Amino acid sequence: MAVVITVAQQKGGTGKTTLAANLAAAFAPSRRVALLDIDPQKSLGRWHSLRRARLHQAAALACADIAGWRLPAELERLKRDHDVVLIDSPPQLDTDARVAVRAADLVLVPIQPSMPDVWAAEGTLRLAAEERRPAHLMFNRTPPASKLRDAIATDLADRRLPLLRSTLGNRAGFAHAFAAGLGVTEVAPRSTAAAELRALLAELQELIE
Ligand SMILES: Nc1ncnc2c1ncn2[C@@H]1O[C@H](COP(=O)(O)OP(=O)(O)OP(=O)(O)O)[C@@H](O)[C@H]1O
Ligand SMILES: [Mg+2]
Repeated sequence: MAVVITVAQQKGGTGKTTLAANLAAAFAPSRRVALLDIDPQKSLGRWHSLRRARLHQAAALACADIAGWRLPAELERLKRDHDVVLIDSPPQLDTDARVAVRAADLVLVPIQPSMPDVWAAEGTLRLAAEERRPAHLMFNRTPPASKLRDAIATDLADRRLPLLRSTLGNRAGFAHAFAAGLGVTEVAPRSTAAAELRALLAELQELIE
């Protein structure tokens, strides 16, 4: 049975799809990975189409873009045949997002180091708490040194809100890799972005296992 990681955050543009794609690409060499894109924008599905055209190995990474009433059955099907199922969710807390959170072994909530992202994430954390699923915030697009990020991290710790120690910087490499249907660990394995991604992967593996 697969481990299900749901990337969720009701605020738009915090990096959910980028994160799901890069995690999938990083897991792919060692795990059977399935993507489930429940966002009507279908960005992750389009990333997967680019990837398939480029790598000619659709089997390496399965991708489904099913939502609505067929979602629970599709999830069960993907879980049976894979080691990891990564769900990318829309920037809202609708019924599908709730189903995706309910199915998760781990909910990943990317935030940029700014207060609107934190406030929006609180709704996503509440949803995860209602569904009794473990959720972790993660700083994305962080500048190299940021007093605000440090202040936010302190505030989250004071409120006992779980924050991953791994962070992803604001790096053009993420967008470049995405445009090619790839992840940063594939395009530029020696880059800082790839090192950050591998550190994140290791932290997630610790949490999952
Ligand atoms: N670590 C990063 N460094 C630089 N750019 C990033 C990073 N993460 C994401 N981005 C960029 O931020 C933008 C939004 O990212 P993305 O589409 O992944 O967010 P999202 O949360 O999925 O958005 P939506 O809520 O609309 O689904 C994209 O242009 C993406 O390339
Ligand atoms: Mg998205």
